Amino acid sequence: MALEFTVTERPDRVSDEDRAAILANPGFGNHFTDHMVRITWDSEAGWHDAEVGAYRPFQLDPAAAVLHYAQEIFEGMKAYRHADGSVWTFRPEANAARFARSATRLALPVLPEEDFIQSLKEIVALDKVWVPDAANGGEESLYLRPYMFASEAFLGVRPAKQVTYSVIASPAGAYFGGGGVKPVDLWISTDYARAGEGGTGGAKCGGNYASSLAGQLEGIAQGCQQAVFLDSSTHTYIEELGGMNLFLVYQDGRIVTPELTGTILEGVTRSSILSLAKDLGLSPEERRIPIQEWKDAAASGELSEVFACGTAAVVTPVGELRWDGGSCDHRREGHVDEVATKIRSTLLDIQYGRVEDTHGWLTQLA
Ligand code: COI
Repeated sequence: MALEFTVTERPDRVSDEDRAAILANPGFGNHFTDHMVRITWDSEAGWHDAEVGAYRPFQLDPAAAVLHYAQEIFEGMKAYRHADGSVWTFRPEANAARFARSATRLALPVLPEEDFIQSLKEIVALDKVWVPDAANGGEESLYLRPYMFASEAFLGVRPAKQVTYSVIASPAGAYFGGGGVKPVDLWISTDYARAGEGGTGGAKCGGNYASSLAGQLEGIAQGCQQAVFLDSSTHTYIEELGGMNLFLVYQDGRIVTPELTGTILEGVTRSSILSLAKDLGLSPEERRIPIQEWKDAAASGELSEVFACGTAAVVTPVGELRWDGGSCDHRREGHVDEVATKIRSTLLDIQYGRVEDTHGWLTQLA
């Protein structure tokens, strides 16, 4: 049976003036709305005490299992305001299904899809004024962050018997700041892997992001913004960036992304791009991609574009690829990221209701 939410609207909301100042330049992940969702699970009562109320800190026991053993998962989604003021989200069933798979992998309880989607509707109902108006072709949205963690105070290593689910919301502009769509340069991480076979790489859990940070730091030290991780057993095949999936576009119309091997996140944007690529007359391929193929195809000129994708970053072109002792760049004189730009605008047009949603990907939240 679906959960009933207790709704408590806070009297002390951020003022209209302060909110307008935040929405004028939200950045990414800096500001949070007035409310949040909380639901509790325990091994005896199951899911209960579903509420939407004031955004406030958790009171966590220092022995809460998540702080010690990282039993935690999350999702990343966006709420988009359409021209008529209504608010929509993109493929929430796909996020709910992935959240359930991540929960199973991390030995957390599964939140039913209807409760997951209702929790998004509940927070947006109270915080609709926080959904930016993305007029003038901008990409502002309200980033929704559902997450679940082991809140039981217990230091033995076993699945927690008390768990908290929550949703917070954050008005968001471009993930990579600085205005406009700028290419990111990537560093090939060879000292660090993000995930290994049989591990949690396919789950959206905080631990995967923590394990990507040392590689990212190494990339930053080399003048890049992000690191590209290779498979941990052979250090040969491209996996992902840690927070984004990758696509290589060839001159002959092939658009190739690493196949899902269990160590790569099953990106919702990734799977949507595979569908859109067909609509755009491209030939999508999912397969293992040796990192050497990227270097060779960039050198021969066969590679026309590389881009990264994810909910937060949408579609971001990749500039240079660097590694210990070398670098390559597929961009020639007068280069334009034609396919990345087309896919990005097609995706945004669907998300903002500017074109017909022929795939049935949108769900109205408010
Ligand atoms: C997203 O694209 O939503 C992500 O989860 C990536 C990152 C912000 C963690």
